[in-house]
Amino acid sequence: MENRGPVMKAQFDYNETNVFVVGGTSGINLGIAQAFAAAGARIGVASRKQSKVDDAVASLESDAGPALGYAFDVRNPDDVSAAFDSFAAEVGKIHVVISGAAGNFPAPANKLSPNGFKSVVDIDLLGTFHVMRAAYPHMIRPGGSLINISAPQSTVAMPFQVHVCAAKAGVDMVTKCLAFEWASEGLRVNGVVPGPIDGTEGMDRLAPGDKAKAMIAKTVPQKRLGTPEDVARACLYLGSDAAGYVNGQILGADGGWAIAGAAVGGLMMA
Ligand code: COA
Ligand code: NAP
Repeated sequence: MENRGPVMKAQFDYNETNVFVVGGTSGINLGIAQAFAAAGARIGVASRKQSKVDDAVASLESDAGPALGYAFDVRNPDDVSAAFDSFAAEVGKIHVVISGAAGNFPAPANKLSPNGFKSVVDIDLLGTFHVMRAAYPHMIRPGGSLINISAPQSTVAMPFQVHVCAAKAGVDMVTKCLAFEWASEGLRVNGVVPGPIDGTEGMDRLAPGDKAKAMIAKTVPQKRLGTPEDVARACLYLGSDAAGYVNGQILGADGGWAIAGAAVGGLMMA
């Protein structure tokens, strides 16, 4: 089912703003970076692999305007801080930060090694904290907006996803605690929960093949998989003054998938 609303293209003006997207070199987060770039923002993108960073910067620059890239692992807080310091030294105060680096693989809990569990928690949960902490001194006040990319696993139990469920539930609580603490400084912190997004690494890992994807699409109340643009539009909104009194919220961009509950998780691993 396609969108049928009267506004087919979100109209946000991000000229003269600086936006940093962590994990922004592929998939959903690259789609988010592209949407902010198209709306006029100066973009910073980051992930571990220099080649992915270089490709993302090249594609952002050919589609929109100047972009800066940084290679680091979110598990290393010093490297995360150094990149934010460098981006801010280059462009000035930061208006919007998206924290979306994540790792996922399906694994039954009784076969998952402690280090496997730890790796995902380190990337998703500790990584989110590292990004928030590194961004904090550089955010514009008032008006800065921080957005953590969560997942349906944060509220819906899914088989073979104990590590991701635990990590993303923690991410949502980081979002809410920081929203509380930093509101008085004029910062807003919110989360976005993508549903099953077509053509992404996450979907390919959890629902490989067309048959599995078609089955998942049937479980979405809106009866279709999402696109990176669906998620990006939620971020454009949360980053803007239109969401000026929206703080500490976890916004689903999922066609209603999360409200379909844990049965979805069962189907997903079928
Ligand atoms: N099943 C079970 N355990 C697995 C696994 C799998 N498919 N893949 C990795 N692990 C375990 C490893 O065995 C290792 O544990 P061990 O030391 O006890 O053997 C642990 O996880 C770390 O593996 P490693 O390959 O060293 O991790 P990494 O830090 O290089 O990479 C991952 C992190 C595993 C999350 C990797 O999949 C990744 O980089 N993902 C990023 C992309 C992604 O997941 N995108 C989708 C986002 S939704
Ligand atoms: P993706 O393309 O693999 O994106 C993950 C990004 O994070 C990549 O840029 C990756 O690049 C980077 N990254 C991974 N580990 C990192 C680390 N340790 N340090 C720094 N960067 C790291 O996956 P995606 O499917 O689009 O997912 C994007 C986000 O959406 C994730 O937060 C995911 O949990 C969430 N989500 C996805 C779906 C879905 O359907 N795909 C659904 C719900 C939620 P490098 O490999 O170069 O590091």
